[in-house]
Amino acid sequence: MTTDPSFPASSPASFPPSFVWGAATSAYQIEGAAREDGRGESIWDRFSRVPAAVEDGSNGDVACDHYHRWKMDVALMRSLNMNAYRFSIAWPRILPHGRGATNARGLDFYDRLVDELLEQRIAPYATLYHWDLPQALQEHGGWANRATAEAFAVYADTVSRRLGDRVKHWITHNEPWCASLLSHQVGRHAPGIRDWRVALAASHHLLLSHGWSVPILRANSSGSEVGITLNLTPASPASPSAEDYEAYRHFDGYFNRWFLDPLFRGQYPADMIADYIAAGYISPRGFEVVQPGDLQSIAARTDFLGVNYYNRAVLRSDRVAEEKNLPRTVFMAPQSEWTEMGWEVYPDGLFQILTRVAFEYGTPKLYITENGASYSQGPDPEGRVADEKRVRFVRDHLLAARRAIEIGVPLAGYFLWSLLDNFEWDRGYTQRFGITWVDFETQRRIPKDCARWYSRVIAENAVI
Ligand code: FCB
Repeated sequence: MTTDPSFPASSPASFPPSFVWGAATSAYQIEGAAREDGRGESIWDRFSRVPAAVEDGSNGDVACDHYHRWKMDVALMRSLNMNAYRFSIAWPRILPHGRGATNARGLDFYDRLVDELLEQRIAPYATLYHWDLPQALQEHGGWANRATAEAFAVYADTVSRRLGDRVKHWITHNEPWCASLLSHQVGRHAPGIRDWRVALAASHHLLLSHGWSVPILRANSSGSEVGITLNLTPASPASPSAEDYEAYRHFDGYFNRWFLDPLFRGQYPADMIADYIAAGYISPRGFEVVQPGDLQSIAARTDFLGVNYYNRAVLRSDRVAEEKNLPRTVFMAPQSEWTEMGWEVYPDGLFQILTRVAFEYGTPKLYITENGASYSQGPDPEGRVADEKRVRFVRDHLLAARRAIEIGVPLAGYFLWSLLDNFEWDRGYTQRFGITWVDFETQRRIPKDCARWYSRVIAENAVI
């Protein structure tokens, strides 16, 4: 156990004995080495070059240079007592054109990383898709094309044949809402499309590719756990009016149920199908991209659900918003504290969403696969990063998670976002989610106070 006088121990709140403690990252956000060892182009390489697509005009070409510094980053995790690490595999490193020829050097990289993690007694939790689609597949329609789901199944097979003897936790997709709606309807993420029909087709093909891959991963990786990660946002109406309730219903359907229902009930929510037909986004005959058998595939039994939680949404109707000149979607309540992403700090939302998925959907085991906060505070003259706000954020969310466990939610682990400051998508390097400070000029890493505090939490298996 490490001791740190800046965080005196108070009454500890302990976690179940085999609780999994780790941190999360993703390939495009940390690896860099964008053109090395045969890696193909991804939609984020392309999109980050579009003027004004990324706030500071940056990209992931170098990022945290993790592709070269992986060993030191694993040593960092070991020094912080972590017993698990969630990372993602870059599809364009494995299949530079999305399908066809495999790039052995890409597979070798993850092979070495996995061996080193195991050597350091850190369990690898591998995500297959964290948004870096090979650009070659985008040229053929990307996720709007069913053929991309077929290509994903081959990619999942290729990776799990090589790593499946050692990787025993697989996450097919990270946040399909972002990979479909945010990137094809809102247009804020790659490939930057704004088209409802395309976005909804993409959501279906993402889910389908998940379902098709579940049996493949199980077959290639005996005894492994297979799941998917959703970003879930607990929602509520801004007032008890019928109109605000309607706004809430629609948001919850769009954001949460559109993914939870097919995965755990084998159907798309009927109210959302009706909304989308009324809006002209899908055909009056129904959701045309769904073929016979698809929903059974999507609802394949999984071993766990990964939950990424950052904030909540409080919804107001369009009419009230217009009349009173208030925002339509209020992601934060008045008098709240916000992180630098503009996200409300709302730990109780984690309790709400965990209990909801466990009790309403009867989900299997749960992991919090991401939770964390953006605060830009850097090193003081002594080189210390005193990020008390982040410590408080993580502590309060862990206490909310523990309350959920106490009432019977099968929560098995927690992955802090993120191990390192990194490339935060359309926000570039303006946002720092790391528990480790990264100096992007020198690539020096400095564990922030939160990292040291978290290492004590892990060592004691309790919130201190
Ligand atoms: C999530 C993403 C992750 C990171 C955090 C802040 O939506 O999965 O890559 O960007 O948000």
